[in-house]
Amino acid sequence: MHHELDRATTDFVASVSHELRTPLTSIVGYVEILADEDAGPLNPEQRRLLAAVERNGQRLLALIDDLLVLSRIEAGTLRLARAPFDLAALVASARQAVLPGLAGRALAIEVDVPEALGPLEGDAGQLERVLLNLLSNAMKFSPEGSAITVRAWREGGQVHVAVADEGIGIPFEEQSRLFERFFRSSLARERSIQGTGLGLAISKGIVERHGGTIAVDSKPGKGSTFTITLPLGAPR
Ligand SMILES: Nc1ncnc2c1ncn2[C@@H]1O[C@H](COP(=O)(O)OP(=O)(O)O)[C@@H](O)[C@H]1O
Ligand SMILES: [Mg+2]
Repeated sequence: MHHELDRATTDFVASVSHELRTPLTSIVGYVEILADEDAGPLNPEQRRLLAAVERNGQRLLALIDDLLVLSRIEAGTLRLARAPFDLAALVASARQAVLPGLAGRALAIEVDVPEALGPLEGDAGQLERVLLNLLSNAMKFSPEGSAITVRAWREGGQVHVAVADEGIGIPFEEQSRLFERFFRSSLARERSIQGTGLGLAISKGIVERHGGTIAVDSKPGKGSTFTITLPLGAPR
């Protein structure tokens, strides 16, 4: 379509992200020093206020990071490592990373990923980003007392990884737009569930750069399953 314009926009977003990142990193760093009381003791009210500054600073950093990655994906300039990786270890690591988000919630993540499903190769760091997105979505859109499962299996020369939840689901007519940047479903907006709508666009870009696909199967009120399919690749 407007390829030239898209490219210019993408370059612009990439530079702006860089420029925002540096001062914000510094701000968050100073806030952490204050919060750790390295600059003197705080009263409870000051601690509460600083915690809010820190939390929102981290959110902004994550948003900038997402914008940067997405702009690189769209410009075709995201550099991917290519190395053999172990899917079971990757899933375990992603699960570990989201565990703090389960604190105080009646929500469990069950994992059923056999050892040595591969051989797989690619950028384990970026693929972990995809799993983190899918897991954090599942957690965000799930009610208390429900289950989230991660399963993986090998079929037809490919490896499939499915993240399933029993959450609010996505209306059928919106499912085709889910992987567009900034798209958020009517259910997410109605319930004021936080988000930017960048995670799935990024996930799709990363998976496709690995020669794979990502798909959704969902019913409102019943739950959603996101399935990634990756080609088997022999490590050299
Ligand atoms: N597991 C899920 N259950 C229900 N809705 C989901 C799920 N995952 C994604 N969605 C819908 O897709 C939208 C886009 O997801 P994403 O790109 O990760 O953005 P964000 O998480 O920032 O809202 C979400 O806002 C939500 O409407
Ligand atoms: Mg998300």
